[in-house]
Amino acid sequence: MKSPHIVVLSGAGISAESGLDTFRGAGGLWEGYNVYDVATPEAWDENPELVLRFYNMRRRDVRAARPNAAHAALVDLERHFEVTIITQNIDDLHERAGSSKVIHLHGEILKARSTIRTDLLVDLGDRDIEMGDLCPRGGQLRPHVVWFGELVPEVYRAAKVAETADILIVVGTSLAVYPAAGLVPAASKASAVYVVNPEIPESVNRPGYHLIRKTACSGLPELVRELIDGSPSA
Ligand code: OAD
Repeated sequence: MKSPHIVVLSGAGISAESGLDTFRGAGGLWEGYNVYDVATPEAWDENPELVLRFYNMRRRDVRAARPNAAHAALVDLERHFEVTIITQNIDDLHERAGSSKVIHLHGEILKARSTIRTDLLVDLGDRDIEMGDLCPRGGQLRPHVVWFGELVPEVYRAAKVAETADILIVVGTSLAVYPAAGLVPAASKASAVYVVNPEIPESVNRPGYHLIRKTACSGLPELVRELIDGSPSA
């Protein structure tokens, strides 16, 4: 029998217990910065040094963070089901935990992208990005992250995946930004939708949805255990 396809839509809340800040948890500030001063094309045009410095600090935070019990639970889930993770997070904690199919809607902070060829990506390894760091074609490198007001190229692939979900798990996201929030209605064929968040977003407070008002590290391992115990291969 074909294994059910479980699609997970994750957001900053799944990495909160690894010590990485959420976006909307600190009064509109992200690590003390107004996001519009550091995460927009206009910010890059006005003050690229500040933008690079900001993302260099965030990259160091990501490298220092460790995957938590919620990331690990999704790896367990993959041993019993077909699992695809669509994450809004730019960290690599899903991959470091061991998940194999991860779509990064908003980019990846450990990669750089050319400013003249958007498809030219560079793995940064343990490096930062500085002004003067160029792609092989001579363009300045910038973080490979989606800024406010920019297109989200991966959303088409993500929407196709969401449409094939038999089960949808929404974890650690406020669903405050589009197009990511539109992936929940895109999963219209899912027979069950689970939401793990201590503060359930209004848009998913819907009859029939399973609302788990717990943190990712407490609610997700419990949910994964239930799904595995109830699966035909358990
Ligand atoms: P938000 O900061 O908007 O929302 C974080 C969500 O996580 C909130 O709903 C919290 O209640 C929840 N949360 C906090 N701690 C949690 C925990 N320990 N366990 C589970 N949930 C917890 O972050 P996102 O929804 O990811 O985009 O934000 C989406 C996008 O907005 C980001 O990817 C970013 C930002 O603009 C871009 O940079 C393009």
